[in-house]
Amino acid sequence: MLRLNKILLYFLALGVAFYAVFAYSFFPLGSLVHPLMKLNFQAHAGGVYLHVFAAALALLLGPLQFSSAWRQQNPRWHRWSGRVYLILGVLVGGLSGLYIAQFAFGGWIARSGFSLLALAWLFSGLMAYRAIRRADIFNHRRWMLRNFSLTFAAVTLRIDLGLFSAAGVTFEVFYPWLAWLCWLPNGMWAEWFISTKSNAPFKADAVAPRSM
Ligand code: HEM
Repeated sequence: MLRLNKILLYFLALGVAFYAVFAYSFFPLGSLVHPLMKLNFQAHAGGVYLHVFAAALALLLGPLQFSSAWRQQNPRWHRWSGRVYLILGVLVGGLSGLYIAQFAFGGWIARSGFSLLALAWLFSGLMAYRAIRRADIFNHRRWMLRNFSLTFAAVTLRIDLGLFSAAGVTFEVFYPWLAWLCWLPNGMWAEWFISTKSNAPFKADAVAPRSM
């Protein structure tokens, strides 16, 4: 079952990352989003492109970082793709996400939702990096799980978008709340996953020699 979940997670993350890279490489800016968002995007093109490509890199690299088999076979690769994930993906994608959040479609509800997502993404990434710099694998894993649950907001946002549209709710009504719904449940799931007894790797005695 866990294997199936992992395959689904990889498939969804890669799917949204490829959509982002393909759509923003080959289509005019904003041609695949709501017309009012398109005007915003064109007014802040640099921030949108920086965000889309940097954040897509995080979504692309993130899932592999959680593969313990891959990590044990390729520790050097885990460290380097971890640095690219955190610095190019989360730092650049998060700061540009925070910037475009100030102009997000959907008023203060959407702007505050995306802004808090950006700040939580940046903070959890920083905490994960600081933990591994002091060889604290226990907290590194917990903060990376929290961080990737927020990266996965790009996937849950698009699933929610499909569900609300299929339910016939108008875009202008549900989109502002999507800026909260796309990450709050993910964050709560991460806290539940970390706290449940069955997840041995997150137990206190999982400290090992310096790795990153
Ligand atoms: C987790 C932190 C993230 C934050 C704070 C964030 C924030 C934002 C904001 C504010 C917008 C503009 C929305 C609007 O104007 O209404 C946006 C759009 C976008 N973001 Fe993110 N984002 C995040 C993660 C990601 C990730 C991981 C991807 C990976 C593919 C991504 C891809 C995109 C794309 C493609 C758009 C343009 C809209 C579209 O074509 O669907 N974002 N993001």
